[in-house]
Amino acid sequence: MAIVTSKEMFEKAYKGNYAIGAFNVNNMEIIQGITEAAGELRAPLILQVSSGARKYANHGYLMKLVDAAIEETGLPICVHLDHGDTFELCKSCIDGGFSSVMIDGSHHSYEDNVALTRRVVEYAHDRGVVVEGELGRLAGIEDAVNVSAEDASYTDPAQVQDFVSRTGVDSLAIAIGTSHGAFKFKPGMKPQLRFDILEAIEGRLPGFPIVLHGASSVVPEFVEKINAYGGAMPDAIGIPEDMLRQAARMAVCKINIDSDLRLAMTASIREHFALHPDHFDPRQYLKPAREAIRDMVARKIVNVLGCEEKA
Ligand code: G3H
Ligand code: 13P
Ligand code: ZN
Repeated sequence: MAIVTSKEMFEKAYKGNYAIGAFNVNNMEIIQGITEAAGELRAPLILQVSSGARKYANHGYLMKLVDAAIEETGLPICVHLDHGDTFELCKSCIDGGFSSVMIDGSHHSYEDNVALTRRVVEYAHDRGVVVEGELGRLAGIEDAVNVSAEDASYTDPAQVQDFVSRTGVDSLAIAIGTSHGAFKFKPGMKPQLRFDILEAIEGRLPGFPIVLHGASSVVPEFVEKINAYGGAMPDAIGIPEDMLRQAARMAVCKINIDSDLRLAMTASIREHFALHPDHFDPRQYLKPAREAIRDMVARKIVNVLGCEEKA
């Protein structure tokens, strides 16, 4: 099995009313934890790399780790650039072996977003690589883009057909109320997603794969553990798992998850040091941290994505 694109994964996910998990990777333990869970549950998988992750870990190291994971699990794995913000970054990832890139032009004007996305699509498609575009703005912090809640705007269903046909993108990230990070709603606010907008988009683009960013649930038990062991994240709130499951049954074929992995790993390491203050061998705390990543991914595959046994 080699690195694959998400094309076939999305076709099957759309028809089968489930979604593929796109998990952010930064190092060996994260890649091993994710791929162990997906391997055990035979779940198709997207490993995504932000430009910050690429700077942190180095493109070459990450590719070798992904190759090793594919050899180990025999799974189809798509390697995706998360939030590419320039043509040059997308080109570098395509030239370096990624099978999928996101060009995030959502912070540009509509016409500039179309032009930039179209340019990336032309380069990518000539090389067998698929492209995710974004229309609408999420609140929160992305690699190079900081969008305040006031600036966030839902995707306008009236624009999606024009955007997809003029750019040629293979999937579309939309804004329906999700946001990046661990603080998605203010305390006291009732988490909600605009399923009416998702339905309207689905009606205008039948069969077309939709992507949800900012889709961590910020699982309360991990926030509680972090707070119990000296952390300070009292107001962390995410998207309830049942809402994400509902989106996965609709046109959403890719669900992006990073914060829940960060929380699982951090909770495990905090707990470890609280219980074993004398430990200083990194393997002593990274092994349970890797297991925490594995368990979180297994939980997502079953509770949110519904993609077990679909590889
Ligand atoms: O949406 C952004 C992802 O969570 C990646 O985060 O840019 O800190 O690597 P990062
Ligand atoms: P979360 O911060 O909700 O995990 O979202 C991650 C994401 O959208 C990566 O692109
Ligand atoms: Zn994102």
